[in-house]
Amino acid sequence: MGILANSVAGYLHNASWIRRMFEAGAKLKAEYGNDKVQDFSLGNPDLPAPSAVYEGLEKFLAHAREPFAFGYMSNAGFPWLREKLADYLTKEQGVSLTANDVILSCGAAGALNAFLRAVIDPGDEMLCFAPYFVEYGFYVANYGGNLKAIKTDESTFEPDPESLRKAISPQTKVLLINSPNNPTGAVYSKETLVALAAVLSEKSAEIGHPIWLVSDEPYRFLAYDGVSVPSVLPLYPYSVCVSSFSKNLSLPGERLGYAALAPDLPEKETVIAALTLTNRILGYVNPPVVGQQIMGHALGSHVDKSIYEKRRKAMAEVLTQAGYSYVMPKGAFYFFPKAPGGDDVAFVNALAKELVLAVPGSGFGLPGYFRLAFCVDETVIRAALPGFTKARALFTKWWHISCYKKGKTENFSWALFVWRIDHALVTLYRRNRHEEPKCRHECYRE
Ligand SMILES: Cc1ncc(COP(=O)(O)O)c(C=O)c1O
Repeated sequence: MGILANSVAGYLHNASWIRRMFEAGAKLKAEYGNDKVQDFSLGNPDLPAPSAVYEGLEKFLAHAREPFAFGYMSNAGFPWLREKLADYLTKEQGVSLTANDVILSCGAAGALNAFLRAVIDPGDEMLCFAPYFVEYGFYVANYGGNLKAIKTDESTFEPDPESLRKAISPQTKVLLINSPNNPTGAVYSKETLVALAAVLSEKSAEIGHPIWLVSDEPYRFLAYDGVSVPSVLPLYPYSVCVSSFSKNLSLPGERLGYAALAPDLPEKETVIAALTLTNRILGYVNPPVVGQQIMGHALGSHVDKSIYEKRRKAMAEVLTQAGYSYVMPKGAFYFFPKAPGGDDVAFVNALAKELVLAVPGSGFGLPGYFRLAFCVDETVIRAALPGFTKARALFTKWWHISCYKKGKTENFSWALFVWRIDHALVTLYRRNRHEEPKCRHECYRE
């Protein structure tokens, strides 16, 4: 018998790809210098918080010496703040919410854990559309549940309601969706959400218990080109919206989030009581006082989105120039391009040798792709072009890959030369046939 639980020992052994790339990056930075490494591995927002955050802090500081300023409170959060949040979400989500429909939590992660603790029994299933945020699998496993992945259409990463129908079993308890999506940047349309809700209603009746629809929305504020992010709360009575201020206020370390229940949810009071309890018995108890005070002042503000917009454009230009195939993200701050050669782990390792850090799609339940987080300065994005170009060249033809895998990297210049000739010939051929470029509105292809 070891000192750790078997499951945790296993997790340590198969450490998350994001963490692994982060650690590999730290080593490369120590060796080559920070400015030589282009690190797209972590979704850690680098933008400063909006000024309302600092004003909120100062306002709180003026009262911070009062008795119980940092004391225990109702585990669901300050009542005045729950009221304020409910008013805010009433406008955002298009449903009428009261303070009794929301609880505050330690980030979206805390809200998801409190919710899953409240509804998952060992052996229950939680469905997610792949690719998905890797932590979801750990969260549901915390309570003895299993994550079951459902494929999406890889030309858009939109979920398919028929695939959902086929995936549902008598063990299914939850469908967890995430839009705008990490890692693809997909934003699910209202038609898709309506269709998903219809399948859930039909299958819930068939299997004899309600299937929850949980919508994880920390990137809701960040949709591009006028795309709107529809709400699930008006569409399905057993729906829950979970979110946080980690990305929109750039406050991930402050651990501030919430869960909001659909107004038509039957037995709403019981569910809120359960969430309040699980929040406490998981040890979160309540979100930190300072974070709540900031939130009270900064609700409705967000970081400068135009910076993310510029970075998205820069990343699209760099990837297109380097010849990558990708779906343009409609929201969030990630790209999820195809890994040239198909082996995402080998490709990401090669990219790291060019001092460009990414995370393999395998880490998100979809091998063959890799994730780039563009919450970094535009100069970092532009500086990665040579690295992206070189790594792709290595993986474009089978023999380049086999050279690479055999460690014959001295063949690189020769491989690059042949690839360039090959690329020029294909371009000439297409031009002679007057072929349209394959890049169409949001979908860019080689
Ligand atoms: C899709 C998604 N859900 C949840 C989280 C957790 O966020 P929080 O910091 O609010 O716990 C993240 C963090 O990156 C995320 O990308």
